Amino acid sequence: MVVVGFIGLGLMGKPMAKRILSAGYKLVVHSRSSPPVEELANLGAEKASSPKEVAAKAEIIITMLPDSPDVKKVVLGENGIAEGVRPGSIVIDMSTVSPMVEMEIAEELRKKGVEYLDAPVTGSTMGAESGTLTIMVGGSKEAFERALPVLKTMGKNIVHMGGNGMGQMTKMCNQVAVSLNLLGTCEAILLASKAGLDPKKVIEVIGSGAAGSWQLNNLGPRMVERDFRPGFKVEHLVKDLRIVREVTSRLNLPLLGVNMVAELVKALEQHGYGSEGTQALITVLEKLATHQVGSK
Ligand SMILES: NC(=O)c1ccc[n+]([C@@H]2O[C@H](COP(=O)([O-])OP(=O)(O)OC[C@H]3O[C@@H](n4cnc5c(N)ncnc54)[C@H](OP(=O)(O)O)[C@@H]3O)[C@@H](O)[C@H]2O)c1
Repeated sequence: MVVVGFIGLGLMGKPMAKRILSAGYKLVVHSRSSPPVEELANLGAEKASSPKEVAAKAEIIITMLPDSPDVKKVVLGENGIAEGVRPGSIVIDMSTVSPMVEMEIAEELRKKGVEYLDAPVTGSTMGAESGTLTIMVGGSKEAFERALPVLKTMGKNIVHMGGNGMGQMTKMCNQVAVSLNLLGTCEAILLASKAGLDPKKVIEVIGSGAAGSWQLNNLGPRMVERDFRPGFKVEHLVKDLRIVREVTSRLNLPLLGVNMVAELVKALEQHGYGSEGTQALITVLEKLATHQVGSK
């Protein structure tokens, strides 16, 4: 049985690592803070003190980290994966980061005879827990086929999108659509509230028709309840929309709607909501509208 390494046991990484373990793989784990490492060790995973040690013990090494500099550091930095990895291994980054950075990392690992896949996901923490994530993969088709059995423990819809970076490029398309759905959800709820309707009843009615979306149906009710606990953190959406802007600037592609959402979520982060869930976007729009959802 292939030994799998997992680095970055946060909101997404911890349930994803649990799925691999419960599928029967031998798992070696590492993360910055110790509580999730201890939790996985109690379930049977082996602890490693650095990414280098994980890489030395595993043939498939997965990272699930916040941003591009984190992935670069964990893969290519001191005591990083590149120092311990053996030729023939596959490193899979499942974080959402810059496609250009993924191409750079792939190039460095290729020099060591190591394959690299960028394999970002959608489906939220719920999908991570149930093993139903969508996984969009960039890299060689051969490495994709070899990694597929491990990816199948975490996801259902797993698609090879092209060479290195194309998984992340697909994820950026996803984030454009998600952001605009999020804004649409906030505006529909604000209108419902200001017009004197019951916003939850409106979500129920319109959510099953043409206006329905994951954002409306899942985050809409939380906006109304003022439940801003994170599934997907504001700071991560700020990061993703920064990457969207880098990519669209390189492609000379004007995307007006997503640029507006990027400014709004940056304002939300500056108001102290960085570690809250993205449904907190409603608070910025409420300030602009001088109307709080649920008030008269
Ligand atoms: N949450 C979602 O719904 C969702 C959905 C799809 C994609 N994503 C993407 O998936 C990635 C992870 O998201 P998340 O929500 O799981 O974030 P998170 O909760 O912040 O988890 C990131 C984890 O990485 C660890 N970490 C950071 N730097 C490290 C280092 N140098 N070495 C070892 N571990 C390190 C963090 O440790 P600490 O605990 O010490 O901070 C934390 O456990 C992001 O790129 C995000 O955009 C998230």
